[in-house]
Amino acid sequence: MALPNINPTNTKAWKKLQAHFETVKDLHMKDLFAQDKNRANKFTINWDDFYVDFSKNRITEETFKYLLELADDVKLKEAINSQFSGEVINETEGRAVLHTALRAPKTAECIVSGTNVVPEVYEVKEKIEAFTNEVVNGDRKGFTGKAFTHVVNIGIGGSDLGPAMVVDSLQYYKNHLTTYFVSNVDGDHVNEVIKKLDRETTLFVIVSKTFTTQETLSNANTIKKWFLESADESAIAKHFVAVSTNLENVQEFGIDSSNIFPMWDWVGGRFSLWSAVGLTISLAVGYKNFENLLRGANKMDEHFKNEEFSSNIPVVLALVSVWYNNFFSAESEAIIPYSQYLNQFATYLQQGIMESNGKSVDRNGQAINYQTGTIIWGEPGTNAQHAFFQLIHQGTKLIPADFIGFAKSLHGDQDHQDKLISNFLAQTEALLNGKTEAEVIAEGTKESIIPFKIFQGNKPTNTIFIDQLTPESLGKLIAMYEHKIFVQGIIWNIFSYDQFGVELGKQLASKILKEFGADVKNEHDSSTSGLLDFYMSKR
Ligand code: F6P
Repeated sequence: MALPNINPTNTKAWKKLQAHFETVKDLHMKDLFAQDKNRANKFTINWDDFYVDFSKNRITEETFKYLLELADDVKLKEAINSQFSGEVINETEGRAVLHTALRAPKTAECIVSGTNVVPEVYEVKEKIEAFTNEVVNGDRKGFTGKAFTHVVNIGIGGSDLGPAMVVDSLQYYKNHLTTYFVSNVDGDHVNEVIKKLDRETTLFVIVSKTFTTQETLSNANTIKKWFLESADESAIAKHFVAVSTNLENVQEFGIDSSNIFPMWDWVGGRFSLWSAVGLTISLAVGYKNFENLLRGANKMDEHFKNEEFSSNIPVVLALVSVWYNNFFSAESEAIIPYSQYLNQFATYLQQGIMESNGKSVDRNGQAINYQTGTIIWGEPGTNAQHAFFQLIHQGTKLIPADFIGFAKSLHGDQDHQDKLISNFLAQTEALLNGKTEAEVIAEGTKESIIPFKIFQGNKPTNTIFIDQLTPESLGKLIAMYEHKIFVQGIIWNIFSYDQFGVELGKQLASKILKEFGADVKNEHDSSTSGLLDFYMSKR
């Protein structure tokens, strides 16, 4: 077995945490801060351009000690080494998990089945760079000799969310190319995008690791059909490129072999933006920025691999999250970036986190009797403050939140930036301290209203404060969450890199689809039958 196989609830540390939880669960963080003036210092990690303050959590030094013991008890260090050394840690699919190799330096060695894959990675990177430069500089032309102005990424899940989020997050660094993303099989998506396109100047990037995904192939075929309405088959070679492991299917679609950007089965879809899946990123912001994104991720990889656990950012964030998930029974976590650029960040993380760790069978194949994957959601601040923050502040649920902020703005308007950051800091302070009855009374509140204006506080947050949003810092941030996912998967003793849970719906959809056209009738429950009949009567 490539990974340790340890039920976390049977470890010594888990038992200590359980007993310890009973003694600390009602402590108020406000008191912990009052008792220890050095608390913030003790629970802050300063690394590179990251300032990660996890002191506003319902933990004591003893909690932290036991959490670190838990990491040791589940043999996290060994697991990290197994991952980085290319062992087949995705055991259920028989694959290594080496997205880290995609951002390793040229001199690194990442061995998969006895072969160093780094040279292949660099070969593809060179192809991405050359292609990007040709398109961005206007040297590569469409079928009527015009340079490209638009790029459409056709993919879904990991072949869409990562590139879409990064392109959106790095808008500030964008060049003249306009990018669109088509993912949903809902025809509205592709048709609305088509309306904005000019065949002569649009490049289509079809991204599908398997090249069998219904949504992507349907959208690609719709676009191809539209394209061929006023272009010849021979023009496809100029306008369509693909990123895939399935070279045969890509060629069958009609794409020229020189226009295929390969990827590898040791890169999971939701961890693939660092590969040629990130081609649209490279096109949108230029290859240098794409490279800087990768460099940032590599720095985080080194930090994760080498830093001791007590000051290892992904490890600490993972442990604190386990504390809430498994001891406080918190169900969800909010991700609140105080950056409009990170508008799609929580959506992106939903796939990474929930597709990876939404599992209920352990590495022995046994049903699990403890909680695993957390529910992730969030929106940028300050908008979120005017939407769902009420529930975080005064609702009945415990929702630990990550606050992500950038000290220096890109726009340079200090007035906006100061207002943004004052909100960023104020919210975590308010969530920590709350507002007491005495404070509400002191404000001169009418007596009957007093209970409604009290805030309990004691709501946990991590503050991830970064110098500035750059391709490199974004790379670090994404990699930070990737490693957090890994650590939690190890602790929960699950396989984080398969996604069988998405298969059943796909299988049933293809069965139902057959019922629409032909005389096929399948057995269904009465609810589904009724819904089918309703659809057929309207279709
Ligand atoms: O939703 C399941 C899934 O397999 C994801 O893991 C993956 O990112 C997505 O579908 C797209 O797959 P592909 O890149 O093979 O089209």
